Amino acid sequence: MPAVHTVLGLETSCDETAAAVVRLAEGDAVSVLSSIVGSQVARHAPFGGVVPEIAARAHVESIDAIAAAALSEAGLGYGDLTGVAATAGPGLVGGVMVGLSFGKAVALARGLPLVAVNHLEGHAVSARLAADIAYPFLLLLVSGGHCQLLTVEGVGRCRRLGSTIDDAAGEAFDKIAKSLGLPYPGGPALEALAVNGEAGAFPLPRMLLGRKDCDFSFSGLKTAAARVAEGLTSEGERRNLAAAVQAAIADQLCERTARAMGLHARDAGAQGLRFVVAGGVAANRHVRARLEATADAHGYGFFAPPLAYCTDNAAMIALAGAERLAAGLSDPLDAPARPRWPLDAFAAAAQPTHKAGRKGAKA
Ligand code: KG4
Ligand code: ZN
Repeated sequence: MPAVHTVLGLETSCDETAAAVVRLAEGDAVSVLSSIVGSQVARHAPFGGVVPEIAARAHVESIDAIAAAALSEAGLGYGDLTGVAATAGPGLVGGVMVGLSFGKAVALARGLPLVAVNHLEGHAVSARLAADIAYPFLLLLVSGGHCQLLTVEGVGRCRRLGSTIDDAAGEAFDKIAKSLGLPYPGGPALEALAVNGEAGAFPLPRMLLGRKDCDFSFSGLKTAAARVAEGLTSEGERRNLAAAVQAAIADQLCERTARAMGLHARDAGAQGLRFVVAGGVAANRHVRARLEATADAHGYGFFAPPLAYCTDNAAMIALAGAERLAAGLSDPLDAPARPRWPLDAFAAAAQPTHKAGRKGAKA
């Protein structure tokens, strides 16, 4: 078992084709040797969202060149790698199969161990790409497909404290942005529109506040915001609504997180209190600042990945793979692509957020 792991990571679960090379040395020192993200935004924009078939075809067209670019930027060849890590789910299964098959081919051809990485585990370790964050930590994972609070106890060891009962936070940003006439992807566009807006101009609902669990809900906010958006007459009002939406989402994320902090603190005790926010919505400056203040108020250290590692990337997949290899874990070459794959399989089975066959958040 090599003491230094140099891993090619591959990410193709949604609309970014990404490859990266990450080195995990002894003592957990992490170096990102390269991280290439090929965005498909322009191909999906005319449809107002990600079209799975277009995404899968675009991954096929570019994965080869993007993996080669990641190796070349790292100054390495396939022969220098000690492992390959590919996202195996959850996500759009056509795309997942492209990256996973590519990873299997590299592993087979080069005799390297394969790690089939859970995309959410990638987000969970993403803040560790830039800061030495010890386990355990409390994680808020907020992306386009997921909104959940988890305690992360170690590599692959997570316990879910709560998750969304309808939309994910990023999905709420995207859908409300759409009703404001903003282009896809809506989150960053809504953040830009909100800059000079007045958050207090429109009263919007904050769901589930005060509830004893750590769940989230954004569908009421989405409906309320869409109704307000219909009646807007000026650019100033649009800015105010964007700011009001951002504040409402941040309020809910902070209140639910504060509740989870209380629960987590009882278990974590003397091991130190660390809070990590990860996923695309962690790129939102207002959300980040509000969560940082919440962490401060509860005695938690606050960590968020650099902006480039908040949204989907392959460096986080490579690091998740390297951590698994360091723990002696790898996967067989027939590892399946999994469209749904909860991080905490136990909690997901005990308290399903969605019954079989119903559409909803992938959590
Ligand atoms: O993590 P990610 O790239 O993909 C998933 O795994 O879902 O997250 C994408 C989500 C989208 O919903 C996008 O609108 C949201 O993250 N997002 C943002 C911002 N940047 C990305 N939401 C609010 N503000 C942002 N600056
Ligand atoms: Zn993601």
